[in-house]
Amino acid sequence: MTTLVLTITETLRYRGKLGQWAWALHRISGVGVLFFFILHVIDTSWSVFYPDLYAKAIAIYQSPIFTLGEFALVACVVYHGLNGFRIVIMDNRPNLWKYQDRAVMYVFLGTIILLVPTFILMFMHVVNHYNEPGVVFDLKIPELIESQLPFLIGIVAAFIGGLILSGVYSVVDRSTDKKALKRSKFDTFMWSYMRISGVLIIPLVFGHLAMVHIIQGVFDISKAGFTPVGTTVINQSGQAAEFVMHRWNTMFAGVMIWRVYDVLLLAFVAVHAFYGLHYIINDYVHNKVVRRGAHLAALVGCVILITVGGAALISTSPETTDKMLNQSDSTSMVVPANK
Ligand code: HEM
Ligand code: HEM
Repeated sequence: MTTLVLTITETLRYRGKLGQWAWALHRISGVGVLFFFILHVIDTSWSVFYPDLYAKAIAIYQSPIFTLGEFALVACVVYHGLNGFRIVIMDNRPNLWKYQDRAVMYVFLGTIILLVPTFILMFMHVVNHYNEPGVVFDLKIPELIESQLPFLIGIVAAFIGGLILSGVYSVVDRSTDKKALKRSKFDTFMWSYMRISGVLIIPLVFGHLAMVHIIQGVFDISKAGFTPVGTTVINQSGQAAEFVMHRWNTMFAGVMIWRVYDVLLLAFVAVHAFYGLHYIINDYVHNKVVRRGAHLAALVGCVILITVGGAALISTSPETTDKMLNQSDSTSMVVPANK
C-alpha cells in the first residue's frame, strides 16, 4: 500500500519525463478496461442464461453515466493498445531506445487522431438516441448502484477467499529455490505472451468496438426492426438477447463467425488482463500472504470469467432465440444455425 501511495505521489511530482506518464497511463487504462471486462463478460453471458437480466444490464449501459464511461473506456482501449504496441516494438528493437520520448509522443498523437472521429461518431449515436420519441434523460442512479453492487461484492469476496486460502497455505508452505526457478521460466514465457497477445488483441478489440460503437451504438442493441451489425437477420423482438443471438448464430462459410471471434477475444483478453493484474499485485503488495491471496483471487477470477463467457458462447442460443421470439408472438424468424 505504501508503494502504491509512493508511486502516485512520485508520478505527480516527477515532472518532465514522458515515459513515466506513459507507463502510469498504461497501467491505469489496463486496470480500468479490466474492470469493465469483468462486468461485460458476466452481463453478456446472461443473454443466454437470463435474457431478462441481460435486458436490464443493457438498459443500464444505455444510461447517461455509462455513456460517459463508454467514452472513457474507448479512450483507455485506444491508448493502452497503441502504447502496448510501442512497448512491443521497443522491446524488440533496442536500437530505437534513443527515440523513446518521440515514440511516446507518437502514441499520444495517434490516440488523439483515432479518438476525435471515433468520439464524433459515438456522440452522433447518443444524439440520435435522445432525439427518439419517448426517450428521457434519466441518470438511473439507484438502478446503477443496485446492479453494480453485486459485482463489487463479488470482487471483494474473491479477494477475501484468496486471503483465507493463502493464510491456510502459508501454514504448510514448503517453497524451495527450485520452485522459484521454475516460476521464473514461466514468467519469461508470460512476458512474451503479454506482448504477442497484446498485438493479437489490437485488431480483435478495435474491430469489436468499431462494430458496437461506430457502425452501431450500444443503443441499437435493444432496437426492434434493426439488423445487428455483421448479420443479415432483423432483431424482431427488440430484445437485447435477440441481438446477441443473431450475432452468435450468423454463419459465414460454414462458421459461426462472431462466436469464434468472441472466443478469441475472451481468451486472449482474459489471460492478458489478469496476468497484467499479477504484475501490478507484485509491484504494490509486499506481504507474502496477502500477495499470494491476491494472486489466487486473480487466477480464480480469470478461470471463472473464461468459464462463464465460454459457457455462454457454446450454449444452444438458437433455441433461446426461438423461445424468445415465440414469447413475443413472432413467426417469420430466420435462425440460420442448427436449422
Ligand atoms: C489492445 C491491445 C493491447 C495491447 C497491444 C496490450 C499490450 C500490453 C503490454 C505490452 C503490456 C505489458 C507491459 C509491461 O510489461 O510493461 C500490457 C499490460 C497490461 N495490459 Fe494490455 N494490451 C492490450 C489490451 C489490453 C486489454 C483489453 C486489457 C484489459 C482488459 C489489458 C490489460 C492490461 C493490464 C492490466 C496490464 C498490466 C499493466 C502494468 O503492468 O502496468 N490490456 N498490455
Ligand atoms: C461499451 C462497449 C462495448 C459494448 C457495447 C459491447 C457489446 C458487446 C455485445 C453486444 C456482445 C455480444 C456478442 C457480440 O455482439 O459479439 C459482446 C460480447 C463480448 N465482448 Fe463486448 N462490447 C463492448 C466492449 C468490449 C471490450 C472493451 C471488450 C474487451 C476488452 C469486449 C469483449 C467482449 C467479449 C470477450 C465478448 C464475449 C462475451 C461472452 O462470451 O460472454 N467488449 N460485446
